[in-house]
Amino acid sequence: MKSVVFDQFGDPRDFLQVREVPMPPDPAAGEVRVRMRMSPINPSDLMTVRGLYGRLPKLPATPGFEGVGVVDAVGSGWLAKLRGIKPGRRVAVLNGVGGNWAEYVVLSARHVVPVPDDLPDDQVATFFVNPATAIVMTQRVLQVARGGWLLQTGAGSALGRMVIKLGKHFGFRTINVVRRKELAAELKQLGADEVLSSTEDKIPARVAEITSGAMAPYALDCIGGPGVVDIIQSLAPQGRLLVYGTLSNELIPLDPRSLMGGQRAIEGFWLSEWAKQQGVLRMLGLFRQITSLLRAGVLTTPVAATYTLDQLPQAIEHVERQARGGKILLKLVGAS
Ligand SMILES: NC(=O)c1ccc[n+]([C@@H]2O[C@H](COP(=O)([O-])OP(=O)(O)OC[C@H]3O[C@@H](n4cnc5c(N)ncnc54)[C@H](OP(=O)(O)O)[C@@H]3O)[C@@H](O)[C@H]2O)c1
Repeated sequence: MKSVVFDQFGDPRDFLQVREVPMPPDPAAGEVRVRMRMSPINPSDLMTVRGLYGRLPKLPATPGFEGVGVVDAVGSGWLAKLRGIKPGRRVAVLNGVGGNWAEYVVLSARHVVPVPDDLPDDQVATFFVNPATAIVMTQRVLQVARGGWLLQTGAGSALGRMVIKLGKHFGFRTINVVRRKELAAELKQLGADEVLSSTEDKIPARVAEITSGAMAPYALDCIGGPGVVDIIQSLAPQGRLLVYGTLSNELIPLDPRSLMGGQRAIEGFWLSEWAKQQGVLRMLGLFRQITSLLRAGVLTTPVAATYTLDQLPQAIEHVERQARGGKILLKLVGAS
């Protein structure tokens, strides 16, 4: 079968290759084999290839933390049976260790989710990483109150757009920071209450105006770097900032006094660590919630383009462009 492989950490353009590799073995007890259809290229995939992600695989390795495929074989065990996972069933494939950018993958039955027929492949391919993170950060960790203000950076990202729509759905208000002000109309159309520019606006002053001086009780940051200082200065007393991404790859120049006064807090969030602390039933509940919010159009992922494995270099080049306008998907075997 074909698989994307890297032997060294570094620039994805230099080190990612498509290779013929042996088929994975038959699934053992509790496992399933999936014939993959599509997988997104997420920031975490390319950070892994660059050697910058929080947990790195043994080399050689295959990227790909999520995707959509069709069950090809099922090992013995009760979990797959109980959840209707059988050959021919279309599933979202949540591969926490990576490896989905291949024609076939074997993984635990706990990590595949049967999905309804009315969800298109491109939305099932992006079923978990961003939708789960957006729901868990806003509803489980921060528990953003109805009517409360949430300030977020990277608001034009796929995940940022989901947070905006979750705000409309659950009744919280969003102040959205983007590097390209031209996104304002598009984000307002999705339901953004306010859109600010990281380059043109004085963020703390604008947040003070918008909240009538109360400032933001909740914030999310996926950029890192000096801009985070503005976000901290925009927090209300006892306000909480979750940092969950490092798109700028820069450090935050932090003055401890900005947290001490007002007892503000910065916390880290990583979905894979959070998921490890949840039992099977809680995860099944989260999968159900994602499915129904996807069907309701709340967690839609915008897709910019889909490439075949033979077009991998073009796909990587497209991902690295500014203003790419949505997710880039890789079409694996059997995609329609
Ligand atoms: N902690 C977790 O468990 C977890 C889980 C899921 C996702 N994440 C993180 O969530 C973030 C968003 O993911 P995604 O899949 O939604 O991303 P995405 O759709 O691929 O979009 C990336 C966005 O970030 C913007 N961007 C890139 N570099 C930037 C910079 N240096 N300064 C400002 N904006 C920048 C781009 O803006 P332009 O449109 O202007 O190019 C684009 O809107 C990533 O950091 C990802 O790693 C974390």
